[in-house]
Amino acid sequence: MKLQALTALLFSTATLRGTCAQSHVRHHRQHRSQHDAMVARGGQPPVASLANRQAGNPAGSSSKPPAPTPQGSGSGGIAATPRPTPVAPGGTGTNGVPPLNAISSGMPAGTPLPVPTNYAPGAIPPVPGAPPLPAPCSSEVQQWMQELTGVYIPPLSPTVNGTCAGDPAAAAEATARGWWTCSWITRDTDITTCPTPLDWGVSFDDGPSPWSEKLLNYMGSQDLKATFFVVGSRVIERPNVLVEEYMTGNEISVHTWSHHPLTSLTNEQIVAELGWTRKVIQTVLGVTPTTMRPPYGDIDDRVRAISLAMGMVPVIWTSTPASGPFDTNDWKVAGGLLNGAASYNAFEAILGNATSLSTGFIVLEHDLFEVTVDLAIGYTLNAALAHDPPFSLKPIGNCSNIPVGNMYVETNTNITFPYRNNTVVTTTNTTTSSRGSDSGSGSGSASQLHSNSATGRRKSLPWVVAGLIGGYVVVDSLT
Ligand SMILES: *[C@@H]1O[C@H](CO)[C@@H](O)[C@H](O)[C@H]1NC(C)=O
Ligand SMILES: *[C@@H]1O[C@H](CO)[C@@H](O)[C@H](O)[C@H]1NC(C)=O
Ligand SMILES: *[C@@H]1O[C@H](CO)[C@@H](O)[C@H](O)[C@H]1NC(C)=O
Ligand SMILES: *[C@@H]1O[C@H](CO)[C@@H](O)[C@H](O)[C@H]1NC(C)=O
Ligand SMILES: *[C@@H]1O[C@H](CO)[C@@H](O)[C@H](O)[C@H]1NC(C)=O
Ligand SMILES: *[C@@H]1O[C@H](CO)[C@@H](O)[C@H](O)[C@H]1NC(C)=O
Repeated sequence: MKLQALTALLFSTATLRGTCAQSHVRHHRQHRSQHDAMVARGGQPPVASLANRQAGNPAGSSSKPPAPTPQGSGSGGIAATPRPTPVAPGGTGTNGVPPLNAISSGMPAGTPLPVPTNYAPGAIPPVPGAPPLPAPCSSEVQQWMQELTGVYIPPLSPTVNGTCAGDPAAAAEATARGWWTCSWITRDTDITTCPTPLDWGVSFDDGPSPWSEKLLNYMGSQDLKATFFVVGSRVIERPNVLVEEYMTGNEISVHTWSHHPLTSLTNEQIVAELGWTRKVIQTVLGVTPTTMRPPYGDIDDRVRAISLAMGMVPVIWTSTPASGPFDTNDWKVAGGLLNGAASYNAFEAILGNATSLSTGFIVLEHDLFEVTVDLAIGYTLNAALAHDPPFSLKPIGNCSNIPVGNMYVETNTNITFPYRNNTVVTTTNTTTSSRGSDSGSGSGSASQLHSNSATGRRKSLPWVVAGLIGGYVVVDSLT
């Protein structure tokens, strides 16, 4: 993994921040380096860059780019230059293109070229009378902002960059803010465990990726289902993968458009991140998730309130005092910071701790990179299936006893889920207690979901559903 390359990539990364916020300049200055992001914060690799996508690379995956198509090689200069004198077979090519007799199916592939310019939202096109390129904080986002009306959104300032080191002042009040990143504080409205001991709520973040299908094949062979927390900018890259995940019985949930730490964004930016992602999922699948997972687990009471107001219940992964967050660190293997054995050791420790919990558990894993998929299908899923006592592997909604119909707006008839205006201020530092522990302090937040009051069933979403092509054009301009 070329971290430097990813850092550069990050600067051109799909972002909704551009025109959505006052703090545009500040945010650009704060762009984290990929290395810091990976080392410092239990985070995940950066998001898809459309430039990268157009170059034919899997987003953020510089370690194993897919084989470019044969058409991708050569300079493409043939049509643009004066007709070359035909070369004899075996002669030398022109303009960097291989000799004519080497041009064939299966010829060696070159490196796909990136798009040279990231045109900003609002840029003026070369077509007289055409409107500026669409902006992310369009009228749709303004309409989504209205879902916050009447809901109490705690007036917390955005954190500097979603890390504790980056914002010591906010970190010092992490407990009051409900800022998970710097306290592992969760709220009763978060789903962080499965209620039943030995249930593993399986999930994969950051896809759809070129490797998701490899994972799905394995899961199919084992009759396993999981929850996929998908990145909107990748859904438009691989809508067919999302369809496959959904149609084969997996749960689909929102993981933002551009995978930025949400606590560092303004209210409007958070609404745009969540709103565009649920919209593109709805465009592809016809259903709108009622759950979300914050990238890096970076959530505080402001982000919670916005997510809940928009009809999305936050889902994080389990933490315990003994083990810390249940993170396989598979993303660190993809980033070259750990080897597979170290990640597997982390997973074994998770299983060791999970066995003695009074609840089931949720673990952080990814389907973005081939190595993370390999760790899952070769090791972690296997190990859990072979474990004694046996674990039950289920999607997170299912292990939480949430009927699958409640996982989407269009099929949900439950007036108490998702709970909309309900930032419960009960502090739950670690969400699980050890089975047999006499402290009894662990609350098992999932079991408390049911006690929350509700404000009623969500209205149908306010947007007019665009066709996929229309949606593509709009979101493409957000990068
Ligand atoms: C966050 O900001 C701090 C302070 O500027 C910096 O040291 C750190 O590298 C940043 N971390 C990330 C992940 O951007
Ligand atoms: C949401 O909660 C706030 C604070 O408790 C309250 O003032 C407001 O009326 C509630 N709004 C709705 C729509 O329930
Ligand atoms: C939450 O629990 C962890 C692990 O026990 C501890 O390190 C951390 O300080 C706690 N945070 C707060 C705010 O109490
Ligand atoms: C629980 O997790 C901690 C931290 O990873 C680890 O040191 C410990 O061995 C684990 N316990 C069991 C029983 O596996
Ligand atoms: C969970 O999935 C199983 C297997 O598909 C199903 O039988 C069960 O009813 C589901 N649970 C809920 C709460 O829907
Ligand atoms: C509605 O959701 C609540 C909270 O998740 C759950 O306790 C209840 O069983 C659900 N009811 C139905 C009919 O799905």
